Amino acid sequence: MSAPTPHVVELRNLRLQFEEKKVLDDVSLIVEPLDRVVVMGQSGSGKSTILRLILGILPPTSGSVFFKQFEISRLPRRKLQQIRTRIGMVYQYSALLSSRNVRDNIALPLEELTKKSRDEIDRTVDEKLEMVGMSGVKDQMPSELSGGMRKRISLARALVMDPELILFDEPSAGLDPVISSVIDELIISLSEQSKVTSVIVTHEMDSAFRIGTKMAMLYRGKIIEVGTPEQFRQSTNPVVAQFLSGSTEGPILEGSGDAVAPK
Ligand SMILES: Nc1ncnc2c1ncn2[C@@H]1O[C@H](COP(=O)(O)OP(=O)(O)OP(=O)(O)O)[C@@H](O)[C@H]1O
Ligand SMILES: [Mg+2]
Repeated sequence: MSAPTPHVVELRNLRLQFEEKKVLDDVSLIVEPLDRVVVMGQSGSGKSTILRLILGILPPTSGSVFFKQFEISRLPRRKLQQIRTRIGMVYQYSALLSSRNVRDNIALPLEELTKKSRDEIDRTVDEKLEMVGMSGVKDQMPSELSGGMRKRISLARALVMDPELILFDEPSAGLDPVISSVIDELIISLSEQSKVTSVIVTHEMDSAFRIGTKMAMLYRGKIIEVGTPEQFRQSTNPVVAQFLSGSTEGPILEGSGDAVAPK
């Protein structure tokens, strides 16, 4: 049994391999209270995989994942389900249930996981909708909303259990630049207002620098740099520099994101 962590999240020497394919190779990362940690990396570098490991949806091949004092990868199912209620998740494409209206989408975790009355649930839904600036759309269906509005609804759903940690998978995916900035600002204000810690994965640099209080860069299965946004801007690591500039010149090759470097 590994020693527990004093941090909100700790990834300790994580390795993850799908059959022949190594995705994460000795990844360690610490998330402190109220941090907004941005994990960056190319498509296929393992960003979503990291979030799935934190949620305990995926077991690591080796190493440990901690949330507070709990070693996620060793918890019995029932306990894991209980712990997951303290973690909110905002999926890449919002992942709202298309057959349910906004109210029911947001209410779902409360209905399934708590004994709250319908009135209490309605009050909480109203409160969270107001927090994301979406009062008055309760009866609408997800298909009637724009991408930015759906993102706000998925944020409200992630907040509904008053989580201590929120995980965001590409929060600006599919949104235009202006709406992306608005969502980024909302993520910042909600995290500050609700005093919640977050881990955000993205490959959008503008977003990463706006949101992050701390950044980590994933490349070929490893975290090659971790630091403040300022440290990243000044990084002399050629991979980081190329990633930040979006240049075609540099060590990053097309398709290299989806493989651990050959030995
Ligand atoms: N269940 C699985 N079985 C096999 N391989 C998988 C599985 N899930 C993910 N992978 C592989 O692991 C690698 C990392 O996937 P992941 O989805 O974490 O990447 P990502 O960084 O989130 O990419 P993107 O930016 O495109 O969302 C990819 O090469 C992917 O093909
Ligand atoms: Mg992904």
